Amino acid sequence: MLDHLTVVTHPLVQHKLTIMRNKETSTAGFRRLLREISLLLAYEVTRELDMTTTTIQTPLCEMEAPILDGKKLALISILRAGNGLLDGILELVPAARVGFIGLYRDPETLKPVQYYAKVPEALEDRLVIAVDPMLATGNSSVAAIDLLKEKGAKNIRFLCLLAAPEGIERMKEAHPDVPIVTAAVDEKLNDHGYIVPGLGDAGDRMFGTK
Ligand code: URA
Repeated sequence: MLDHLTVVTHPLVQHKLTIMRNKETSTAGFRRLLREISLLLAYEVTRELDMTTTTIQTPLCEMEAPILDGKKLALISILRAGNGLLDGILELVPAARVGFIGLYRDPETLKPVQYYAKVPEALEDRLVIAVDPMLATGNSSVAAIDLLKEKGAKNIRFLCLLAAPEGIERMKEAHPDVPIVTAAVDEKLNDHGYIVPGLGDAGDRMFGTK
């Protein structure tokens, strides 16, 4: 079982994250690093996938070899920044089923408002990995996991790049059964709900918007 919180301290992850945090890093650079880092995070979040064996014939002999068991896993991108993490993970797990949940943060209340949801069928039989680079207040992450549970998901993990202590607490309260995997836990949130020191608005950094 993964712990409730796993911080991936691998040197490559930490090095790439530092470059992503730097405000001088270009949109192209940010995007490339996010794709690279998501491969490394995907490795961690997919630890302990169910395995079985199959009989194969190597050039030398027959063997019982390990393969993944069960239904294809479901990756759920929390729009729009989740797509940056999704692309990298899909390179590693190309057969995964993919869903999208669109939530925007009301700038006054900082509460999530859902505007889109399309998720794969049979969520109850899959490992479901929800991805969003920034676990800030935790409001949208909690709302996304609420929705996934309403749709039947039972085995869910949450993958992000950066987490604020406030977001981790909120997730732990609302969904103690959902392990979080992140590259770093930052100091705090500012008054606008941004992670400090953070990396700014992940969607803007990724897509070159303001
Ligand atoms: N979303 C972001 O993109 N950045 C933050 O710091 C917090 C939420």
